[in-house]
Amino acid sequence: MAAFPRFFSALNSGSSEAARVAAASVSGLTALLSSLATRTPRPIPVHFQAPLEGELEQELSDTAQVELAAQGPWSAARLRETLRTHLKGDRVIVLANREPCIHQRRPSGEVVVQHPASGLVTALEPVMRACSGVWVAHGSGSADRESSDARGRVEVAHGDASYLLRRVWLNEQEEAGYYYGFANEALWPLCHLAHAHPVFRRSDWQQYQRVNQRFADAVIAEAGCDDPIVLVQDYHFALVPRMLRRRCPRATILTFWHIPWPNTERFSICPYEDEILEGLLGSSIIGFQTPQYCHNFLESVDRALEVRIGRQELDVVRQQRTTLVRPYPISIEWPSRWSTTIPDPATCRAEVRADLSLPPETKLVVSVDRMDYTKGMEERLLTIERTLECWPEGAGPIAFVQVAAPSRTRIERYREFGEKVRSEVDRLNQRFGRQGYRPVVLFNRHYEPPEVFRLYRAADICYVSSLHDGMNLVAKEFIAARDDERGVLVLSRFTGAARELTEALVVNPYDLEGVADTLRVALTMSPIEQRERMRSLRSQVAEYNVYRWAGRMLLDATRLRQRERLQVRLAGRTRRRLARTIG
Ligand code: F6P
Repeated sequence: MAAFPRFFSALNSGSSEAARVAAASVSGLTALLSSLATRTPRPIPVHFQAPLEGELEQELSDTAQVELAAQGPWSAARLRETLRTHLKGDRVIVLANREPCIHQRRPSGEVVVQHPASGLVTALEPVMRACSGVWVAHGSGSADRESSDARGRVEVAHGDASYLLRRVWLNEQEEAGYYYGFANEALWPLCHLAHAHPVFRRSDWQQYQRVNQRFADAVIAEAGCDDPIVLVQDYHFALVPRMLRRRCPRATILTFWHIPWPNTERFSICPYEDEILEGLLGSSIIGFQTPQYCHNFLESVDRALEVRIGRQELDVVRQQRTTLVRPYPISIEWPSRWSTTIPDPATCRAEVRADLSLPPETKLVVSVDRMDYTKGMEERLLTIERTLECWPEGAGPIAFVQVAAPSRTRIERYREFGEKVRSEVDRLNQRFGRQGYRPVVLFNRHYEPPEVFRLYRAADICYVSSLHDGMNLVAKEFIAARDDERGVLVLSRFTGAARELTEALVVNPYDLEGVADTLRVALTMSPIEQRERMRSLRSQVAEYNVYRWAGRMLLDATRLRQRERLQVRLAGRTRRRLARTIG
């Protein structure tokens, strides 16, 4: 604050020293404003004099006051209201590789709409419904083109809410190099500590750069103004923030990295480390799932680039631009839209067992994933083997249901992994199965969200065994499904979710015997303990829902946007006053 009296007295003195002091004070102001952006919202005391006082005080405290007034839980309505009040109706553009609905042509010729198995889509779709913005994504469905207009646009409507989906078309080589190659054979294994080595091919990197530019162009075409608010999602678009910043210096760019950010030694093996970091630093804010990933990112930046890192402020200053780095743990909509349309847990329980030809008293352990080596399915199957080996005769039947949606199957590592999982399931069923009883049921196909919700309601246990996972929303969806306050969540400690969901039974998925012991504890847990744990988990997810995730990010962006606009005005005014004073 000390800078401000100096600033005004320097201006008023009209001396030649005024220019130097005032310039230094403006940079002090800049630093102060950006540091204010990092704190908890509250009305900000302003000590300097008119004419700026009223303006700054008004703008900054308006945000804080409205925010304070908006009490109560975060909901779609509150998010909508927040956008209306703070962003004055400015359009929000989401950029994500995966589209929220995919038009597929079946062999019969019929076109169906699929909702992909993607945590990102699960989280962002309700946010888009609340914001009515534009979602820019790769049009990957076999019937996507014929279902869109000439510009690749299609309206996605839900009741009275709707938003626009803008599809970007990629050719075979682009998709192979950018999505399968650089995103999923280089960055995905680079960021996940699981069983795969990253593969860096220069040709993939070139396609990644090219395709990032194509998506950046599509975002700009949709923006229709020079200061859009863009939510860039995930590791597919690390270069887009900088591309957008160059074309729209005033844009508010919020980038969210859904997957882990590894430690600096690991990240530094990427031959394109500098370009990726520079690309991301085009963002106004970069969000990660956990504080640890923020820390890892700051370390990577510090090691690779000439920048100033604010370790207290959690920011990076590069070429006079500040990028805030923040943890925003992602979540799901609450309440789930399926909670009223899917039958109650008792009905689901009976129906699912009947569908699977299992006796009504069968204990059911459910896991739902994409078929991906990071999800710990091999370890899970070995744990199931240990559990079945020790399962007492008199304890009644037990069955493990694994939904594994096919994923990235053009990549050899994924094909090999799928084969391994299928053969292990066969082996276990041969070893432990009997006439009419298969202890492990594998559904290696796409499941629509209501089917998954029904399974969650039918389960005694949901087991999430990821070896490394940014968040894992399956864990939160299981909790959302259990309004009967029953069921036990067994959760890998290597998920971001384990930080928040502390009443789950948290396990190390590599410790096969340890997890088998925990599964036995879960299978015999009393209804009272299940209720206590589930009640607490439900209140956690209800409060920290996806509207809060989006609301917090957008409010941080709003404050940043106000301050940046104000800085531009202040700088202009300062220049004019200096010009008058000096000459
Ligand atoms: O977890 C990272 C992620 O991109 C998610 O955001 C999404 O749930 C998942 O991978 C889906 O992968 P894909 O889009 O390659 O099918």
